[in-house]
Amino acid sequence: MIEFKNVTKIFNQNMPDETVALKDINFFVEDGEIVLLKGPSGSGKSTILSLIAALSKPTFGEVVVDGERVSKLPDNFAALFRRRHIGFIFQKFNLISELTVFENIVVPLIPGNFSKREIEEKANKVMKKFEIEHKRDQKTKNLSGGEQQRCAIARALVNDPDIVLADEPTANLDEKLSLNFLKFVEEIKNEGKTVIISTHDPLFFDNPIFTKVIEINKGRLV
Ligand SMILES: Nc1ncnc2c1ncn2[C@@H]1O[C@H](COP(=O)(O)OP(=O)(O)OP(=O)(O)O)[C@@H](O)[C@H]1O
Ligand SMILES: [Mg+2]
Repeated sequence: MIEFKNVTKIFNQNMPDETVALKDINFFVEDGEIVLLKGPSGSGKSTILSLIAALSKPTFGEVVVDGERVSKLPDNFAALFRRRHIGFIFQKFNLISELTVFENIVVPLIPGNFSKREIEEKANKVMKKFEIEHKRDQKTKNLSGGEQQRCAIARALVNDPDIVLADEPTANLDEKLSLNFLKFVEEIKNEGKTVIISTHDPLFFDNPIFTKVIEINKGRLV
């Protein structure tokens, strides 16, 4: 379902600050897998996730996601593809601090053609599932770390994506909340979704929840 074929990503090509972020990467992820994407800082983890989400395009090679050659999608189709297929949990969550939990969660639904009622239903479902319903009308700047985490997970899942990408989701969480995150991953897994988690948190290494480990170093597969 996710395939990288000879993917190279070069930033600022032919400029003095040219950076080869990924070099000739090949891998395959099946439906329903839970993948650990690991590597040191600057190794190319975020770059891989943004290619899967069609947020950027490879310089060479091909990325295929859900049968779609996302590396060839024009921008407007890429946005549509993302809305249908991808849920993204960002490093430090990227919640909009002045908006409420509910308002943050429905952000991915706004460009769609959903009625007010459908939006309510979808938001209620994920708020309940990730135990953040009681904070519905609180601004997210007033939430605890764990609540922000659950809000970010709910927002990533609100459009019922088949692929969930998490970029260092536990970077600023303590050990208890980090392990809690894996509990939620377990739930997402049980819905049959494909999950890719980028991290250098040793807490995640050797965890049996992962069906595959993709390790990169300096833009190359280890
Ligand atoms: N937009 C960009 N322009 C120029 N260089 C970039 C850009 N994005 C990433 N890079 C470079 O590409 C390389 C890989 O970056 P990437 O963000 O994928 O690493 P990472 O593994 O996610 O690191 P971290 O663990 O610190 O988040 C780095 O050398 C980085 O400086
Ligand atoms: Mg990164």
